[in-house]
Amino acid sequence: MKTIVFGGAFAPPHREHVKMCESAMKELGAERLVLVPTYLPAHKTEHYLSFEDRCALVKIAFKDVCGEVVVDDVERRRGEDNYSYLVLPILKEKYGDIVYLIGSDSLEYFDKWKEPQRVATACKIAVCSREGYAGADEVVKLVGTKYGVENFIPLEHVGGDVSSSMIKTKLLLGEDADELPDGVNEYIKTHGLFDDYIEFVERLKSYQTDELFFHSKSVVKRAVEFNSKHILLQDYDKVFLAALLHDNAKQRKSLDGLNVPEDAVGTPVLHQFLGAEKARRDFGIEDEEILNAIRYHTTAKANMTMLEKLIYTADSLSDDRTYEPIPELRKIAIADFEKGFKAILKYTYDKIAERGTGMYPLTEDAYRYYILEDRD
Ligand SMILES: [Fe+2]
Ligand SMILES: [Fe+2]
Repeated sequence: MKTIVFGGAFAPPHREHVKMCESAMKELGAERLVLVPTYLPAHKTEHYLSFEDRCALVKIAFKDVCGEVVVDDVERRRGEDNYSYLVLPILKEKYGDIVYLIGSDSLEYFDKWKEPQRVATACKIAVCSREGYAGADEVVKLVGTKYGVENFIPLEHVGGDVSSSMIKTKLLLGEDADELPDGVNEYIKTHGLFDDYIEFVERLKSYQTDELFFHSKSVVKRAVEFNSKHILLQDYDKVFLAALLHDNAKQRKSLDGLNVPEDAVGTPVLHQFLGAEKARRDFGIEDEEILNAIRYHTTAKANMTMLEKLIYTADSLSDDRTYEPIPELRKIAIADFEKGFKAILKYTYDKIAERGTGMYPLTEDAYRYYILEDRD
């Protein structure tokens, strides 16, 4: 029986995973699908779902796929060293005629896999194109010259660009993710998964108008998107928390004896300083990197950390901001993060200068550092 083997973290499994497998089964005339959730005992951080939950979610997500569907826990049984070149022969022994399904984005880095030659000859490898990455035909041609083009089967299906970190973000914000197959959202809710920050989200909602709360969530999504898209390598939780809480004091202006610069009192930039202090007092945030990203999200400053730049940029380019020239600036930042950050800073500086409402000294510093001296 022709069998497709498809592995992944499935944290959580989404619609594109299902579509990719369904199309591959059709194209290759396969009758069985074996799903292999990865097992990484050393890697339990970042809201990583337990192996049991991931297996349960995979069963729900793939329940309507035509043919026999098996969830194989071979990786957990082995415990460690679950490299493809070791696992595929075991699956071949068990299921017979197997084809290993992967995305063209993974094949691009085939050279970096452990023992790629042994993977290439363990069984046939079907390759599915992914939107935004080089196509399957192209990558197979390239990788095939080294590892044997006859070992790969490029498929016609082009998978959509679904981001697992965006799905995770929506769930942590208490939203449903429509990228998830029927039943997955429900399982996540009834089992209390991804509820790590729900208390913060609810509290923030109680402090903010609907409009500001929507803005806060939009900034979280933009910051997460830029962090992955531009490979900024910022810690996911720090990005999430700094973006979520950046405007926590915007509609809570009482000083409460907190320590803020005197020259900021009575100005629009007060909420960044007060926001950092209230994030510490009311949300228990002790991490200075997070607090500083909140503290400078409006004025910017010279020599910012990547997290500070990320929150500053995401705040200006969130989806809820639609006025001119934001769409244009957003395009610049999507193409090149640093250019986008500087374009925002310049636009903001020029706007304040034109209005003549007074430039906060930190913004002057930032302008000199990043625009006049063109530093990174
Ligand atoms: Fe703000
Ligand atoms: Fe904001």
